[in-house]
Amino acid sequence: MRKPGFITLEGGEGAGKSTQVRLLAAAFSAAGLGLCTTREPGGSPGGEAIRGLVVNGAADKWHPVTESLLFMTARYDHLEAKINPALARGEWVLCDRFYDSTYVYQGVAKAVGTAWLDQLYAHLFGNQAPDLTLLLDLPPSVGLARTASRGNVDESRFESMGLEYHEQLRAGFHALATKYPERIHSIDATQSASHVHAAIVSAVNARFGLALIPQESA
Ligand SMILES: Nc1ncnc2c1ncn2[C@@H]1O[C@H](COP(=O)(O)OP(=O)(O)OP(=O)(O)O)[C@@H](O)[C@H]1O
Ligand SMILES: [Mg+2]
Repeated sequence: MRKPGFITLEGGEGAGKSTQVRLLAAAFSAAGLGLCTTREPGGSPGGEAIRGLVVNGAADKWHPVTESLLFMTARYDHLEAKINPALARGEWVLCDRFYDSTYVYQGVAKAVGTAWLDQLYAHLFGNQAPDLTLLLDLPPSVGLARTASRGNVDESRFESMGLEYHEQLRAGFHALATKYPERIHSIDATQSASHVHAAIVSAVNARFGLALIPQESA
């Protein structure tokens, strides 16, 4: 049996991550491949409980270091309770955000520093990393306009952090994509959802030698 891959989607607010998780999951399903879709923060019961603490409320409710540790705590639970068991069962894993988001949102844009985050990550998870990361890149003003038109005020804590913060996120993701060109595949997320989906399917097929077919909707 082929070893399943661990795929993550990254990008700023409203980049289309959740939309693309649904579409790519449909492509895996159409190909008859077992896939576990999940998200961060959250994914596992413990992770979801921590999600509620970090995605709701006032922008300044946590010190940035405390916030970083909450994300890492949620991630440990998520890997241990959900991601690693799924991979061990032979399922592919598709995760909406992962450590790159912590690195960029807290390490870079909140300036807590990335060296200690990388050290903590290595201590907790060794060299485990996604096999492929799809970075949905777009100007933050476009992404924030999309989330505003979605009209959901729940879980909007990070959206409320101001355009300058979101510009720093985008620059942070660009720097990561330059640092890990083998792992991170950047996609122009200003295109239509179906164009982005086609680009994602093509990147997944190329990376893993699959023959997934783009789906019309999900
Ligand atoms: N390529 C696209 N073009 C235009 N609108 C899009 C596109 N992809 C998604 N949308 C819409 O933009 C909004 C945000 O999309 P989505 O929820 O998938 O983004 P997200 O990256 O998961 O957002 P968040 O960061 O809030 O989790 C939704 O209303 C969605 O229907
Ligand atoms: Mg989403």
